[in-house]
Amino acid sequence: MKDLIRKNRSYRRFDETKRQDEEMLKSIVTAARFSPCAGNMQRLRFRLVTEGEECAYLFENLAWAGYLKDWPGPAAGERPTSYILILSQDDRSAMLDIDIGIAAQSMMLAAVSEGLGGCMIGSFHRERTDARFAKDGYRVRLVLALGVPVERVVLEDACDGDIHYYREPDGTHRVPKLPLDTLIIK
Ligand SMILES: Cc1cc2nc3c(=O)[nH]c(=O)nc-3n(C[C@H](O)[C@H](O)[C@H](O)COP(=O)(O)O)c2cc1C
Repeated sequence: MKDLIRKNRSYRRFDETKRQDEEMLKSIVTAARFSPCAGNMQRLRFRLVTEGEECAYLFENLAWAGYLKDWPGPAAGERPTSYILILSQDDRSAMLDIDIGIAAQSMMLAAVSEGLGGCMIGSFHRERTDARFAKDGYRVRLVLALGVPVERVVLEDACDGDIHYYREPDGTHRVPKLPLDTLIIK
């Protein structure tokens, strides 16, 4: 489990020739289904996106890697090949936000265990995304972009609290994490 968590990085470049079918995405949503949620209320719903035109529409409405100012997001041929959208009706409940995070992480770990990888996307055009993918009073709350990763992501210890991820000239994506002893409050 610890290895899986470490391998589960935010991947933003994918092999677009390798696609996922709905059965694969359903097996990933099962990880959310069996995850804890406040009051066991199970208020989240999931929309699977695998079809090419739907993927293209969604992609146009996502914002990628805010710290990489010169990078407009994955180029054609390296874009996500499927998505799982997490939807809810009530968007003002802190407990529900926690449920979304738990479900999202469970699904990302399940995806990595299947040889996939991806990125949670919280910065997206909500109106356009809802217009296409939401219904019955539900709204899209978080997007999981998925595929077979083609990038190398390396964790490193953050220096002087600098948490900005960055890219090396060879494309390696480096993610600083704060040292353990600065995380534990005594
Ligand atoms: C709730 C949430 C929202 C995120 N939204 C975005 C986003 O809109 N675009 C993006 O490129 N990455 C997004 N990320 C990915 C983070 O940038 C990433 O987790 C962080 O840089 C650390 O990298 P790591 O996931 O490899 O540890 C999001 C992550 C989380 C947990």
